[in-house]
Amino acid sequence: MSFIIIAIDGPTGVGKSTIARQLAEKISCLYVDTGAMFRCLAWRWGQQGCPESDELLRELGEQTRIFFDNGKVFCNEIDVTEEIRSEYISSLASRISLFPAIRVVLKKQQRALVKEVRESGTYKGAVLEGRDIGTVVFPEADYKFYVDASPEIRAERRFLQLQERNVEADFQEILSALNERDHQDENRDLAPLRAAEDAVIIDTGNLSREQVLRHLLENAGMEEVFA
Ligand code: DC
Repeated sequence: MSFIIIAIDGPTGVGKSTIARQLAEKISCLYVDTGAMFRCLAWRWGQQGCPESDELLRELGEQTRIFFDNGKVFCNEIDVTEEIRSEYISSLASRISLFPAIRVVLKKQQRALVKEVRESGTYKGAVLEGRDIGTVVFPEADYKFYVDASPEIRAERRFLQLQERNVEADFQEILSALNERDHQDENRDLAPLRAAEDAVIIDTGNLSREQVLRHLLENAGMEEVFA
């Protein structure tokens, strides 16, 4: 069986990461969280005072080595797994993702990462999760999924998660931050968030994680391919 590439795109807070990670594990594929790559560059960008020059951003991207190991994210050898999840880095990541220089550098790194893994023969394939995988980074992906849910449902899930962790949260605030990120992701000039024409669209609104996973596996005959 040849190396398989699976693209999972969708808006913020839809639960893509969990779905993609579980799917990758189940079918012995590498899981690539491309959002974490934007977050790593945002982390370094913040440390440098957020310069907006294309040249500096290109350099920043080219001088940043990002890799994933055992569920952890490393940025130039530093474990940034927790730090890149802060609200501050979320907002910087959203801003830095608008710059063409950054999108070009990360697309190159994402393709190089998959090439390296394909050649190493360690995995059966790669599951990449993001906003533009099926449309821009891997338009030739073997399987493309677009997972979606209404902003209200995504905000509610986030609200409940925070409550569970005893973190104070305001539903309206979460909803408006989410709407703002959707707007930015969908309306940027370069690689805007949208489903690829040939993507299978899955509305996760009324589905549990297990149901979504089953849906993905059953879809497009994937279950047979990985049996
Ligand atoms: O999925 P996430 O929240 O970790 O993504 C962080 C930011 O990176 C988000 O604002 C959108 C951006 N992003 C992107 O533009 N393209 C991707 N393929 C993945 C993330």
